[in-house]
Amino acid sequence: MIPQDNEKIIRHKPIERINHWLVVICFLFTAISGLGFFFPSLNWFMNILGTPQLSRILHPFVGTAMFLLFIFMFFRYFSHNFINKDDINWAKNIDKVLKNEEAGDVGQYNLGQKGVYWVVSICLLLLAISGVMIWRPYFAEYFPIPIIRIALLVHSLAAIGLIITIIVHAYAAIWVKGSVRAMVEGWVTRGWAKKHHPLWYREILEKERKQQEEEKK
Ligand code: HEM
Repeated sequence: MIPQDNEKIIRHKPIERINHWLVVICFLFTAISGLGFFFPSLNWFMNILGTPQLSRILHPFVGTAMFLLFIFMFFRYFSHNFINKDDINWAKNIDKVLKNEEAGDVGQYNLGQKGVYWVVSICLLLLAISGVMIWRPYFAEYFPIPIIRIALLVHSLAAIGLIITIIVHAYAAIWVKGSVRAMVEGWVTRGWAKKHHPLWYREILEKERKQQEEEKK
């Protein structure tokens, strides 16, 4: 059934959705080409843009673009990702989450989503710093070899951390029916909000009530 307009609640604004999917495109390119550089058995991944040489040149530029685009996302979602006592309750009821049932008073994001936000932020920061240090021919020459080796290790570990986290994130997004539509079309139903993010839904109702009062004045 197609929901009526007053059934829909805006969850992500167009600018947030465009930003998210641009980050995803950059992530897919850097992750695939990066895995190609790292594992000999996956060397054929380096052909993602036609030739390994092109992937090698573009990987750091696309990585930089991803980091810069993510800065916008980081500040956009920052205030919704503080961990509080309701999150502990959610974690205790994790078995209910897996059965797709309600699990406590969740605000705009649950503890799993907040975890993704913080892990992704830390991994991207580490990737950006270590990436600049190993970026030949522009910056690598300014750092001694032992430091380059540490940067390479940090870069590889942070990349693996990011890839695993994003696989979990994408899986969870597909698992919770209606989430992907929220990031594609921007809206969720009232039922979805009430079921998955009841505290956030009550905040929306409060906003709507205030708006109606303003309009009456
Ligand atoms: C590859 C496939 C991906 C899919 C299918 C996906 C899907 C989604 C969806 C549906 C949401 C909205 C969740 C909601 O409103 O409750 C979301 C939010 C978000 N996504 Fe993704 N995403 C993907 C990749 C990425 C990547 C590569 C990053 C960053 C490197 C990322 C970072 C985020 C962040 C920070 C949020 C905001 C929610 C939060 O604070 O946890 N996503 N994603």
